[in-house]
Amino acid sequence: MKHLLSAGDLDAGSALQILDSAEQMDAIQNRVVKKLPALRGRTVVNLFFEDSTRTRSSFEIAGKWLSADVINVSAKGSSVSKGESLRDTALTVAALGVDALVVRHPASGAVSRITEWVDCPVINAGDGTHEHPTQALLDAFSLRRRLGELAGRHVVIVGDLTHSRVARSNVLLLRTLGAEVTLVAPPTLMPSGVGTWNCSTSWDLDAALSGKVAGDVDAVMMLRVQRERMGGGSAGDGRPNVGYFPTEREYAIGYGLSPARLTLLPAHTPVLHPGPMNRGLEISSAAADSDRSLVLDQVRAGVAVRMAVLYHLLAGAEAPATGLAEVAP
Ligand code: CP
Repeated sequence: MKHLLSAGDLDAGSALQILDSAEQMDAIQNRVVKKLPALRGRTVVNLFFEDSTRTRSSFEIAGKWLSADVINVSAKGSSVSKGESLRDTALTVAALGVDALVVRHPASGAVSRITEWVDCPVINAGDGTHEHPTQALLDAFSLRRRLGELAGRHVVIVGDLTHSRVARSNVLLLRTLGAEVTLVAPPTLMPSGVGTWNCSTSWDLDAALSGKVAGDVDAVMMLRVQRERMGGGSAGDGRPNVGYFPTEREYAIGYGLSPARLTLLPAHTPVLHPGPMNRGLEISSAAADSDRSLVLDQVRAGVAVRMAVLYHLLAGAEAPATGLAEVAP
């Protein structure tokens, strides 16, 4: 695998290999000296055309802990604001001699397009409403930590499915790993092609959480309501954007993970959210801050998983043991 553009690029074997490597990488977070020499002399560029806190900073930390040089280039403050095209920007950054590009872009498909212009590995850090594969990997890592193997587990994904690249990547990866998925959204935020996603679907969150749609729930993943993608144009699937309906109040009542809804869940069931959270809208503080919450575990997992992805794409083929031997169990 040269690039990581989609969770669909990963078969079960390669996904589990990354998750297992991430377990090893995670061990260095507890060390006094966190750096491994695996990517010494390599340069990774974070090329972000859209805002980010978690993804950009965790890729930066991941690269640095593997001893790579990491450069951040944002649309704001770069020549993109002077009108430079995506192609010219990508070619310019690649000409600086980089070894990998980590790219976030508001347009679905933009990251894939860059692979047609540059020779180095490209990692999709989120493209429009399309995919966010490293988010799905870190979610799987966090779930596996809490639940054990994911085959046969039942994950309910709730919320703004139409605009969610997180949901698309999670469905692909969870199904690859053998988990069952139920998707819950109001009708206006349920993607038109969801029938092909190989998941159960429902508009009734209480029924889904109570196990009345597809059986007992092993994990609940709440999605952010993406207000910034609801202002017009297309939702990314060819349909016009219908705007934000239901209203925020209706949404919170019908689809927010309230304290009362937490009580519908089995005792072992964790709650995930990719962040950033709209507290009081899709998730209550009671849920976000509860013992069930994996939100900060997900953030922490982001570093280990992105280390594993960088390692496999940049060092894995030519130096499979470099640095990993130094990770003390
Ligand atoms: N989950 C996620 O992608 O967060 P950021 O937008 O902060 O990177």
